[in-house]
Amino acid sequence: MDLSVKIGALRLRNPILAASGTFGYGLEFAHLVDLNRLGGLVTKGLSREPIEGAPAPRLCETPSGMLNAVGLQNVGVRAFVAEKLPELRKLDTAVIANVFGYTLEDYVEVLRVLEDAEGLAGYELNISCPNVKRGGMQFGSDPALVAEVVGAARRAALRRPLWVKLSPLVTNIGLIARAAEEAGADALTVANTYPAMAIDFRTGKSRLGSKTGGLSGPAIKPITLRLVWETRKATKTPILGLGGIETVEDVLDYLVVGASAVQVGTASFADPRVSERLVDTITKVLFDTKAFTLNEIRAKFLSENG
Ligand SMILES: Cc1cc2nc3c(=O)[nH]c(=O)nc-3n(C[C@H](O)[C@H](O)[C@H](O)COP(=O)(O)O)c2cc1C
Repeated sequence: MDLSVKIGALRLRNPILAASGTFGYGLEFAHLVDLNRLGGLVTKGLSREPIEGAPAPRLCETPSGMLNAVGLQNVGVRAFVAEKLPELRKLDTAVIANVFGYTLEDYVEVLRVLEDAEGLAGYELNISCPNVKRGGMQFGSDPALVAEVVGAARRAALRRPLWVKLSPLVTNIGLIARAAEEAGADALTVANTYPAMAIDFRTGKSRLGSKTGGLSGPAIKPITLRLVWETRKATKTPILGLGGIETVEDVLDYLVVGASAVQVGTASFADPRVSERLVDTITKVLFDTKAFTLNEIRAKFLSENG
């Protein structure tokens, strides 16, 4: 069975990728996972200069989900190119660099450095991080700013596809999606985490060093699934769906409502091999549902829901 999918001009071996920030630079997992079996992997967000990140604790479990406030800790784009990319280049899988900036110029500079490097399949612009005071989500919640940052990134990213990762915390995701599409996005990643908090009433303290964080995991799947559907109705641009994916059924739900591929995030914390396992089982589930291609499964939903 051919599970390959096309995201614009980029062909992936299968529709299952590891999500940014939950899979390090990919290399940390190489002894556990056959990375070449994945559809691809998205790196931790890369910034112009190294970022130390947020104070501990950075993670906290909640019912059906997880809160994180990592604060975009990363080695910086130059160290990534010098130290991580030479190893990543040896892999036979699509490596997507997730790009972050506090300002528009930061995004452009990170892309400029990556443009000079070999071994990447594309870029994913994070305009939706809830865990930083400047940049991130500020860019992602206003269609005019989305157009500006995506337009500037598009002009800087000439060699490779540009994916844009949207914030789920918007009133009308269709407007944001169209702004990104018109500014030159090749694909839309839907979506990032939801701003949230958890406290201990006994101490009155937050369970996170940064007080608030981003909610991910099974708790968010039904909400993000709808956002993927809304995005599909608003644009023709390929979508990567992610939020709470743990099982093959979750993967297919996202594909059926309009995603071309999916990313797996928080589930990798419980089982680092989850993405590879999903690749193994997707073929079996397709047989069980008497569909032989991903498109057949999609067609069923579309005939029911237009
Ligand atoms: C610990 C952690 C770190 C993350 N770091 C990033 C990041 O650097 N860049 C980014 O675009 N998204 C980041 N994300 C968001 C995830 O890629 C994903 O959008 C979100 O967790 C929802 O998917 P999930 O429910 O499968 O985890 C991070 C998520 C977690 C849990």
